[in-house]
Amino acid sequence: MSETRSFPPSSEFAAHANATESLYAEAATDPDAWWMRQALDRLTWDVAPTTALAWKAPFATWFADGRLNASVNCVDRHVAHGRGDRVAFHWVGEPEGDVIDITYADLLRRVSRAANALSDLGVRAGDRVAIYMPMIPEAVVAMLACARLGAAHSVVFGGFSADALADRILDADCRFVITADGGFRRGAVAPLKPAVDEALERCPAVSRVLVVRRTGQDVSWVNGRDVWWHDVVDAASDIHVPESFPAEQPLYLMYTSGTTARPKGILHTTGGYLTHAATTYYYVFDIKPESDVCWTSADIGWVTGHSYIVYGPLANGVTQVLYEGTPDAGGRDRWWRIIEQFAVTVLYTAPTAIRTLMKWGEALPAAHNLSSLRLLGSVGEPINPEAWMWYREHIGGNRCPIVDTWWQTETGGIMITPLPGVTATKPGAAMRPFPGIGVDVVDNEGNSVGNGEGGYLVLTRPWPGMTRGIYGDPERFNDTYWSRFPGRYFAGDGAKRDSDGDLWLLGRVDDVMNISGHRLSTTEVEHALVGHPAVAEAAVVGASDDTTGQAIVAFVTLKLSADEAMTDQSALVSELRQHVATVISPIAKPRQIILTPDLPKTRSGKIMRRLLRDVAEHRQLGDVTTLTDPTVVAMIDGLMSTHINDD
Ligand code: PRX
Repeated sequence: MSETRSFPPSSEFAAHANATESLYAEAATDPDAWWMRQALDRLTWDVAPTTALAWKAPFATWFADGRLNASVNCVDRHVAHGRGDRVAFHWVGEPEGDVIDITYADLLRRVSRAANALSDLGVRAGDRVAIYMPMIPEAVVAMLACARLGAAHSVVFGGFSADALADRILDADCRFVITADGGFRRGAVAPLKPAVDEALERCPAVSRVLVVRRTGQDVSWVNGRDVWWHDVVDAASDIHVPESFPAEQPLYLMYTSGTTARPKGILHTTGGYLTHAATTYYYVFDIKPESDVCWTSADIGWVTGHSYIVYGPLANGVTQVLYEGTPDAGGRDRWWRIIEQFAVTVLYTAPTAIRTLMKWGEALPAAHNLSSLRLLGSVGEPINPEAWMWYREHIGGNRCPIVDTWWQTETGGIMITPLPGVTATKPGAAMRPFPGIGVDVVDNEGNSVGNGEGGYLVLTRPWPGMTRGIYGDPERFNDTYWSRFPGRYFAGDGAKRDSDGDLWLLGRVDDVMNISGHRLSTTEVEHALVGHPAVAEAAVVGASDDTTGQAIVAFVTLKLSADEAMTDQSALVSELRQHVATVISPIAKPRQIILTPDLPKTRSGKIMRRLLRDVAEHRQLGDVTTLTDPTVVAMIDGLMSTHINDD
């Protein structure tokens, strides 16, 4: 790995930076007190907390005796301080020209109306509300309206299937769903309501479905259950008096993939999470709310959308771009046109997007005025040095610092990152723990590794944004994160300290794959494949891919009957890929499916995924001596080279 280049902070940037080197020492002296100061400085409390952390491993509370309302912190207080005319969102729909500017005063009216309507429909503090929406303003409004009422939202990415949606609704016992008829993706209308209807056949406890009309397509309707947003929200009063809630009031659930087939409902609460999101946003993105126009290109259905489109930015009162569509809708220069149009200053995106934009060539960004940009961010997967350099040169004009930010759904906010204006940056390195965050890299026995060595990434002390657990499964929470290295949080990532002690993330060390920054478990995809009537057994691995970081490769054995009946192998492979898309989501579609008579197994019957990964990445095969039948893997290797199937 290259450690050669290092870019020191420019003195010009440093002169106006929010962060200073002294933050590290201040936070290290007494992290709890430092976080308490952030909580008090950055948030508005109805009852100010007097205690920071209470820690009974693996469960933490932060600021537990404080009371606040998340929606007030994101909206009302900015209006109350005379900033109601500031644009909260320049919303850009996918169809050209579909633009709405929403000020903080507008946002307050919209959130208040939605809170009144939800309240009339029966939503109460402590409930869970599923949100399944495209990237439209109502998605943000729905989240904030839930938060305002003390109800936890569970946003399910609009690309998930009806089945995946139903699983998440059932696990969280949601009684309400907020959705839209559909959204616009790649110039086409993508339906959402039909998936909700199908999911709810399995979810009888859902009593109300609130539907935004976005596309105008026909939808089927269940009288008494379904209500139009424009009927009930638009008609509601735009004054809503908020209540305050304890700091540990659940704010949201976000389902994410673990190493088993069942996704985990990651729980976040209010005061600590909001402190973490607001503080990291302020320092890492060097936010100047009066002048910045920020754009986080994530979908609201993932944690990045929660922390760095909704809670972090709105708590800081900043202006943002919110874009509904794909980067190539209306032309492959769509992003650059948006940046130019709104004079975007801070762009936060994922390496996959950068690599895709890179493929489309530098002539497209070069044809637009991107000089408003002053800071660039990356998140979601390790960024390769080539993509980093391209981002720096062709998007950032060699002048913008790049913050490569490592964090997870579970951490709630950024944990490892450079601080712009303070920390040097290196192409591909996430550099240093954020102030107040404890990070270590350890070997198999849990001992810290030295500079120049790699190991497992662990977090050594609780932090405000940390998940408060897996919904309904405290044991799984302990087993997954806290038992591998007792007392420390095991992130599931490999990391390395370079010779300067700076941190490089090396990808997952478990059976979690990272496809275009989307987290999926190998087991989840195997489960879906085995659910197909023709499949006997399936083994799935994540193989490295130039664009998507990793891509899914599945090795499948067929039931005897299916094997004998099969006449067209490629038709079956297409059917299996489609099957996975239907059961989970198109993002889970394997890039390649290899039909094989057998899978490599150890004598105890465990599938050797390590070897399959070697096969999928065309590597020299590792040790095969523990296999029951060492010839199997050579055979699969042969099949792999003859099967470059699918798009
Ligand atoms: O493997 C790490 C990778 O994404 C995982 C977390 O995925 P998720 O919970 O979906 O959250 C994504 C957005 C925060 C991590 O375990 N990851 C995230 N950011 C980085 C990263 N890997 C390397 N570098 C990063 N900056």
